Amino acid sequence: MLNPVEDRLRNELAALEQKQRKRDLRISDAIDFTSNDYLGLTQSPVIKARVIRDLQSGMLLGSGGSRLLRGNHVWHQLAEKEFAEFEDVEAALFFSSGYAANMAVLTAIPTRRDVILYDTMVHASIKEGIHSSLAAKKTFEHKSVASLRAAAESIKDVGNMYVVVESLYSMDGDEAPLEEIAAVCSELKLYLIVDEAHATGLFGKHGRGLIDDKNIREQILLSIHPCGKALAAAGAFVCSSEIIKSYLINKARTMIFTTALPPIVPATISEVLKEIKRNPAIIKKVHQNADYVREKLRSHLKKWIVPEGRSPIIPLIVGDDRVSVAVAAEMQMRGADIRPIRPPTVAEGTARFRITVSALHTKKDLDLLCDGLIEVEAHYL
Ligand SMILES: Cc1ncc(COP(=O)(O)O)c(C=O)c1O
Repeated sequence: MLNPVEDRLRNELAALEQKQRKRDLRISDAIDFTSNDYLGLTQSPVIKARVIRDLQSGMLLGSGGSRLLRGNHVWHQLAEKEFAEFEDVEAALFFSSGYAANMAVLTAIPTRRDVILYDTMVHASIKEGIHSSLAAKKTFEHKSVASLRAAAESIKDVGNMYVVVESLYSMDGDEAPLEEIAAVCSELKLYLIVDEAHATGLFGKHGRGLIDDKNIREQILLSIHPCGKALAAAGAFVCSSEIIKSYLINKARTMIFTTALPPIVPATISEVLKEIKRNPAIIKKVHQNADYVREKLRSHLKKWIVPEGRSPIIPLIVGDDRVSVAVAAEMQMRGADIRPIRPPTVAEGTARFRITVSALHTKKDLDLLCDGLIEVEAHYL
């Protein structure tokens, strides 16, 4: 017998099922066109061998505690030093996830006298951080510099104003107009915070990201770099001044009250950074693969929409929730793992696939994906 709480939960799940919106955890053997492993480095035998060597020479399996206590190890500090060098910034601080890093920055730094302005499309972890912050909050329209300016100019008599954006939006792979945003922030004295989750490892010098690509590092307060995407691991760095780093170590609850990630994670990141430097051709390759898929789908699909772009995230908008579920199942059978993204993650009527390509995909893999989608679309015309 279900108790009343479970009974309510079951009813809610049944309603989701009815709308084709119930999610399950799945494992797929099909070719991966859905992860964020853009450079394919989660599979790197070179990196695996180096990390095994570390484990064999004494690296602990678990960190053993919070970083403020015994959980801080040489691998955590080394990765921070190396990432600060990679990004050419004063300091980097490692958190256990991008979620934790966004929560840390947004709850620790803005005060109750301050205001946070944010793009409507920022990631859920940024929204959580903003909602948990004591500061007032206000949104501006997605990527609209005019809307940002209007929002900032409508606010008077406050402490500091912060602006939070992603450099490359995770769902559609579209880029923020970072230079214009940075210019407005400089003019109106707003502090700019940029989440580089989907740009780190892919753009700019050595794959530093879009802050470097657009040359605005001097104009931002800090940046967040989750490491579970192109960096093939987990955790996240906050890149900032030494003062901000030290403040976060002292005040950020998601740094203080959580067990540090096992040393194998920062050790992996150190090796990933070396690998990117040693083999920059993988960055070129993932962009070539993305261009190939985007162009092929854009020129052959008749009804489904693939927007322009230059990132390895290729949205394919089919509209109807049920169609997205049926197409995903058909593509799984054909050997391509793509997953439907449905409301509430995206707006009603815009169910889609968030196709991602990696540096490891061969032309045969890409053709299996594109030809399959083109054929399947024909059933829905
Ligand atoms: C833009 C953005 N920020 C932060 C995160 C959270 O990072 P993590 O998965 O490391 O918690 C993600 C994705 O998960 C993201 O897409």
